[in-house]
Amino acid sequence: MNDARPREFEFTDQDFQRIRKLIYERAGISLGENKQELVYSRLARRLRATGNRNFSAYLDYLQRGDGSEWEAFTNSLTTNLTSFFREPHHFPLLAEHLRKQDASRPIVLWCSACSTGEEAYSMAITAVEALGAQDRAVHIIASDLDTRVLQTAREGRYRADAVAKLPASQVERFFLRCTGEHAGYMQAKPELQRMIDFRCINLLDSAWPIHAPLDAIFCRNVMIYFDKETQLSVLRKFAPLLREDGLLFAGHSENFYHAGALFKLRGHTVYELAGQARGR
Ligand SMILES: C[S@@+](CC[C@H](N)C(=O)[O-])C[C@H]1O[C@@H](n2cnc3c(N)ncnc32)[C@H](O)[C@@H]1O
Repeated sequence: MNDARPREFEFTDQDFQRIRKLIYERAGISLGENKQELVYSRLARRLRATGNRNFSAYLDYLQRGDGSEWEAFTNSLTTNLTSFFREPHHFPLLAEHLRKQDASRPIVLWCSACSTGEEAYSMAITAVEALGAQDRAVHIIASDLDTRVLQTAREGRYRADAVAKLPASQVERFFLRCTGEHAGYMQAKPELQRMIDFRCINLLDSAWPIHAPLDAIFCRNVMIYFDKETQLSVLRKFAPLLREDGLLFAGHSENFYHAGALFKLRGHTVYELAGQARGR
């Protein structure tokens, strides 16, 4: 349905197709044909901020400028919805997996599209609760392409309602109530923050600064924005990073059946290496 109100900025179908191509090349994100309004509202503020009078001029500025606008362009087009212990069935599985590991070596986990950090902190809480002792080394690499969400993730400060559904004992153990200018927020305790290394990593990059072997990879609710070809290229790079018994956690509406030679289903949206990838 067409909105009768005139738009602040001219936005043609050609502009939209140009944006689709650019964000696909840059982030692997496949924007559906029905996302015009979303794109308009997300990018209109970039036109205001950069003083461009229409989308075509903005896109010229983006592509021909000094490159500094790319970060804001990409950040504007990502979708960052997340929450603590989202898709909760994964966390007992992670806990069980961690308990089975050799206690004499460190555990390494990768949260590969961590958004504002709730998923990575949920992994850290799960690890502390599963392994008990603080002296057990657990290292979590948490990454995202969006630099703005990573800033929130690093700060580890969340509105109190974000943790309201967690058990009170968990909140008390892992969060501090903020006061003063941050009243109404909860701060993740340093004990959790020390376990997590937040980094900017584009899943599309041909090489990642991540070293094998990993005990588990969380890649949840990001593959849904990628086409099958892009998904497959990411999965091909995940496989050699995992330990032989390592786990790959996917989002609720994602499946990797098209990568059957690499991963096989182990439980509800949890994968393990398939025979071929195991015997590498
Ligand atoms: C919907 S959030 C999912 C957050 C969390 N994994 C969860 O399930 O709650 C998707 C995240 O993927 C990130 N993302 C999109 N494309 C990416 C890419 N090419 N590389 C890394 N992260 C990407 C977005 O910035 C966004 O924060």
